[in-house]
Amino acid sequence: MVVNLAFLLLLLLFVSSANAKATVSISPKTLNRSGDSVVIKWSGVESPSDLDWLGIYSPPTSPHDHFIGYKLLNASSTWRSGSGSISLPLTNLRSNYSFRIFRWTQSEIDPKHLDHDQNPLPGTKHLLAESEEVSFGSGVGKPEQIHLAFEDGVNGMRVTFVAGDGEERFVRYGERKERLGNSAPARGVRYEREHMCNAPANTTIGWRDPGWIFDAVMKNLNGGVKYYYQVGSDSKGWSEIHSFIARDVYSEETIAFMFGDMGCATPYTTFIRTQDESISTLKWILRDIEALGDKPALVSHIGDISYARGYSWVWDEFFAQIEPIASRVPYHVCIGNHEYDFPAQPWKPDWAA
Ligand SMILES: *[C@@H]1O[C@H](CO)[C@@H](O)[C@H](O)[C@H]1NC(C)=O
Ligand SMILES: *[C@@H]1O[C@H](CO)[C@@H](O)[C@H](O)[C@H]1NC(C)=O
Ligand SMILES: *[C@@H]1O[C@H](CO)[C@@H](O)[C@H](O)[C@H]1NC(C)=O
Ligand SMILES: *[C@@H]1O[C@H](CO)[C@@H](O)[C@H](O)[C@H]1NC(C)=O
Repeated sequence: MVVNLAFLLLLLLFVSSANAKATVSISPKTLNRSGDSVVIKWSGVESPSDLDWLGIYSPPTSPHDHFIGYKLLNASSTWRSGSGSISLPLTNLRSNYSFRIFRWTQSEIDPKHLDHDQNPLPGTKHLLAESEEVSFGSGVGKPEQIHLAFEDGVNGMRVTFVAGDGEERFVRYGERKERLGNSAPARGVRYEREHMCNAPANTTIGWRDPGWIFDAVMKNLNGGVKYYYQVGSDSKGWSEIHSFIARDVYSEETIAFMFGDMGCATPYTTFIRTQDESISTLKWILRDIEALGDKPALVSHIGDISYARGYSWVWDEFFAQIEPIASRVPYHVCIGNHEYDFPAQPWKPDWAA
């Protein structure tokens, strides 16, 4: 009998430890383009709690509390069964992504560990499962976050974009989509963590490698004419072909979209509040740009731009989000109080005193 009991105990132990092993899997493991979705599936989460959460990490080597964002598992309707799935569009941050599932309980809510809106940040004491890595098939060399701006000459247009390395890149452009006969080299620059003036931007929690920021000028454009362009290089890959209408100095009208305070939307909760309202703002501007057809227009975003507030990847999310309009019409910004108010901010013209 004693022997039997011991056997039973062993069996029980074995069964419960087998059950306790939560797993998380992802599909697909390679995303073709920035903005494509990955499906994250988990199972085997015992006695699920509505505070269990999924951490989103990029790069995958980030420490547990350096997630870029998180979702509570109860975002999936089947979470009470201990398994579920969440589909998440991912912006290419020039690093792979990975996902971790944590148990978090009411008693572990730490009133001193809060986000910028005084909501508790999730606890990372109990890791239940960790996924494999998701990568972007286009790699880290593909140009992303393409946006246009006027430049000093009236017949030029500047294009800016981001890539994961500093190798040479170009813009090629022309009036016919099949023949982008003109080309100009792009200048690449980057910034480092030491260049950031305060936390969290200059700390490991807010900082991510920004890649290289390239800009090139398309010259000798004919006013009011539609141009096609793409950026990149033969060795690192080219962007898709975009188009814009060149500035027409003889036109009697100026069409401008002017707004401030937009912010950006992220498909996860992060350290700061993000702005889902920006999704409709951009949707309506895009609809109006499409309705304008072949008339040139411009955007003037008069400050309070991304509300990234020192979390660098939120800028990536912002530039990815505006790309559908900023790759078609020049997108200009001014600084608002969120860009200006920082005490060590060096630009202090007399008239602003
Ligand atoms: C990626 O592209 C390949 C080839 O075009 C296609 O078969 C696959 O379905 C795409 N994957 C996703 C997630 O869109
Ligand atoms: C998930 O749980 C949290 C914490 O209890 C709760 O605030 C939230 O409303 C829940 N979400 C859903 C979709 O049930
Ligand atoms: C990114 O993930 C892919 C696929 O999971 C892997 O082959 C590749 O080595 C990873 N890249 C880095 C830089 O770790
Ligand atoms: C971040 O910037 C602040 C203000 O300049 C400085 O006091 C702090 O030491 C910096 N932190 C790091 C990690 O460099």
